Amino acid sequence: MDKIVIEGGVPLKGKVFITGAKNAVLPILAATLLTSGRNEITNVPQMRDVSTMIHLLVELGGRIDSIQGDRLAFDTSDINNPEAPYDLVRTMRASCLVLGPLIARLGQAKVSLPGGCAIGARPIDLHIRGLEALGANIELQGGYIVGSAKKLKGARYYFDTISVTGTANVMMAAVFAEGETVLENPAKEPEVVFLADMLNLAGAKIEGAGGDEIIIQGVSSLKPIHCKIFPDRIEAATYMIAGAITAGEVEVTDCIPQHVEPLIMKLKQAGVNVETSKDSVKISTGNGFQGVDIQTHPYPGFATDIQAQFMALMTLARGQSLITETVFENRFMHVAELKRMGADIEIRGNTAIVKGVGHLSGAPVMATDLRASASLVLAALAARGESVINRVYHIDRGYPVMEQKLSGLGAKIKRVN
Ligand code: UD1
Repeated sequence: MDKIVIEGGVPLKGKVFITGAKNAVLPILAATLLTSGRNEITNVPQMRDVSTMIHLLVELGGRIDSIQGDRLAFDTSDINNPEAPYDLVRTMRASCLVLGPLIARLGQAKVSLPGGCAIGARPIDLHIRGLEALGANIELQGGYIVGSAKKLKGARYYFDTISVTGTANVMMAAVFAEGETVLENPAKEPEVVFLADMLNLAGAKIEGAGGDEIIIQGVSSLKPIHCKIFPDRIEAATYMIAGAITAGEVEVTDCIPQHVEPLIMKLKQAGVNVETSKDSVKISTGNGFQGVDIQTHPYPGFATDIQAQFMALMTLARGQSLITETVFENRFMHVAELKRMGADIEIRGNTAIVKGVGHLSGAPVMATDLRASASLVLAALAARGESVINRVYHIDRGYPVMEQKLSGLGAKIKRVN
């Protein structure tokens, strides 16, 4: 199993570009199931979750026409297999995104219950109830969700809890439902808006994505999808924090600053210098930074996917910071590992009380989920001495060429087997 070894304490300097968004490309790939023909997607990030999803689509009858760098041409003319097997779905929760499109396209689906990061119970009841509202018959059999519908019918569905992939799944299914579907309390994440926009370009009739209600008029077919994936806001946020935590000067390029607005606000409040342009953010810290409080919320709130990385930063702040996680119930697994590096953190319920310390010390640590791993890398970059981060396969799920990008900024980082 690979490990990442970091000799910390080097202020990072330079520019780092941001790749296409993982959480945008996964639903787009699932949406190609609604099309029949050659889909062309560019700025596809090269990471394990994306190859898992492509692998899954091939299993369902899709065909890779070509992959050249970040350009993927994918043919969906012969989608014929409704079964998403356990071996593929268990490693990535987002595989459940094929459920809605498969029922809409083939009238049936058999999708293993998902795995992915162990950051909470993460049921998929909202996806299932949404699809049932559209008339699908859904049963759980032997660890699989088995769904069928002769013809989906438009309906009104209210999400009790805001769910990003839940919204995407039901919205995709509703594209082929007869009549009008109204999704209330949907997720407003940029990835959901992008999915709706790209489906519309392919012939769907979706209005209101990004707002409080999404209205979908069913259509009978879609053209293939042609799109360029927008930059990953979580990757951008992680490199912004890398600049701040190492007291460096980092320019994060090819990103959408508006997508990381809550982080920008909090960094400024902490005393970090942040300069934004249309598609880049420059970070520098003159005289350290102070503790500030955050609470995670669905978009446009402070993203839960940046909570762990922000906590790493706060371990070195002046004073105290309260970090409250409201989206997932078990997303503090990085805390024990950060403490091994000398952080002072106490957990009370869903709040972590972080008291800034003078320095962190390098240590062997274990990555537990994707974003927790990123927070350990950040802490290691700032710590005195050497850290060894084990189980880096989590990082490979969502951060393309992370070692190269950090080395390019001057970090002393290497991967060892
Ligand atoms: C997506 C993101 C993930 C991010 C999360 C929250 C993708 C591929 N992944 O995950 O990176 O951390 O949004 O921003 O886009 N819930 C239920 N029932 C359901 C579905 C969700 O109770 O059927 C709960 C979850 O347990 C959680 C909350 O709703 O507490 C939000 O989860 P959700 O938005 O669905 O997360 P994902 O879509 O899985």
